[in-house]
Amino acid sequence: MKKRSLQQFGLLLTSVILFNCSEQNSSGSNNVAQSGSDNMTVRDTPKGLDYDFYKESIEPIFIRHRGGFVGSDTSCVACHTVQANAPLGLVALTEENGEVFWTEEQSRQNFENVAMLVNPSDPETSRLLLAPLSPTAGGERHSGGIFWNSTDHSEYRLVANWIETGNPNATADPVVDVDFEFFRSCVQPIFVNPLENAMPCTECHSGVFAIPPPANAYWTEEQSRLAFEELIYLIDPGRPDSSRFLHKPLHPNAGGDLMHNGGRRWYSKDDPERQALASWIRGESTGSQCPSALQFDNPPRS
Ligand code: HEC
Ligand code: HEC
Repeated sequence: MKKRSLQQFGLLLTSVILFNCSEQNSSGSNNVAQSGSDNMTVRDTPKGLDYDFYKESIEPIFIRHRGGFVGSDTSCVACHTVQANAPLGLVALTEENGEVFWTEEQSRQNFENVAMLVNPSDPETSRLLLAPLSPTAGGERHSGGIFWNSTDHSEYRLVANWIETGNPNATADPVVDVDFEFFRSCVQPIFVNPLENAMPCTECHSGVFAIPPPANAYWTEEQSRLAFEELIYLIDPGRPDSSRFLHKPLHPNAGGDLMHNGGRRWYSKDDPERQALASWIRGESTGSQCPSALQFDNPPRS
């Protein structure tokens, strides 16, 4: 029953696509000229991707109920919001009068995030296509499980078709490297330098990212490594606002988490410290020269 109705839904979506691209021939999938003049106009969207197509056909894939509560029986959105530590940073759904949906503004935001995971210049290499695809069909390991057994799956096809609406010169976003040295020199001291009247992060997160330093000394290299490995789970490289590390301690009025037992450290996204951290998460800050917002005397450096 479940399979059948999913298939029917897939067919329905497929026919919507076929209808949209009625000129399309079935041979080449990379032929840019095939769908006529409107593909030649460069859209003013991330990577030139078609937003209406996204809204109509791709976003429903993320929200689709899959009949269960574990792994690939769950919807993508169950794991992929800012609340979770997985990339693909979808915004939390809006709930109104018993309905659950994304507003236009939220969909635009999702669109921008999702666009970061695709590569119109070489669609099949897009992370968005590889994660849900079975490794036996060329996919990559995905903690969320296998959603598509082959590249013929209707959802795979839809996503692939959507990626092809993009500018064929647009490429993949480089995978961002979040620098360890900068963490060790400039970020880690945050954990022992609380705001006035606040507790240090080490008070509550000592077992994970906020390992306390030795008495009157700086963290050992090994301690910094351990802390970094833990903190990386709370960071979405390249996307500061989807990173829990920057989301939890931010005040809700500034777009932060509704709840944090440890209180707030930043009251605005313009906070210089948070901005300095954001630039680190975007891969722009490296090395041991700390910007002024991240200079601390404690703990002492030898
Ligand atoms: C049960 C939770 C879960 C579900 C459901 C889930 N994912 Fe994921 N996904 C994860 C986690 C955790 C990661 C990060 C670690 C990894 O890549 O395995 C991830 C990573 C990804 C990535 C990034 C891979 C990369 O290159 O870094 C993409 C893209 C993605 N998922 C897409 C999807 C899509 C699309 C769906 C729905 C069809 C989905 N996921 C469903 C948990 C989930
Ligand atoms: C008084 C204890 C306390 C202090 C101090 C504290 N936190 Fe927390 N923090 C918590 C608790 C409890 C949770 C989990 C429940 C929640 O979300 O509130 C949490 C959750 C988090 C998370 C999400 C962790 C996850 O696994 O998803 C982050 C990130 C975080 N805190 C960052 C910080 C930072 C950075 C500081 C210091 C500036 C800090 N916290 C200080 C108690 C604290």
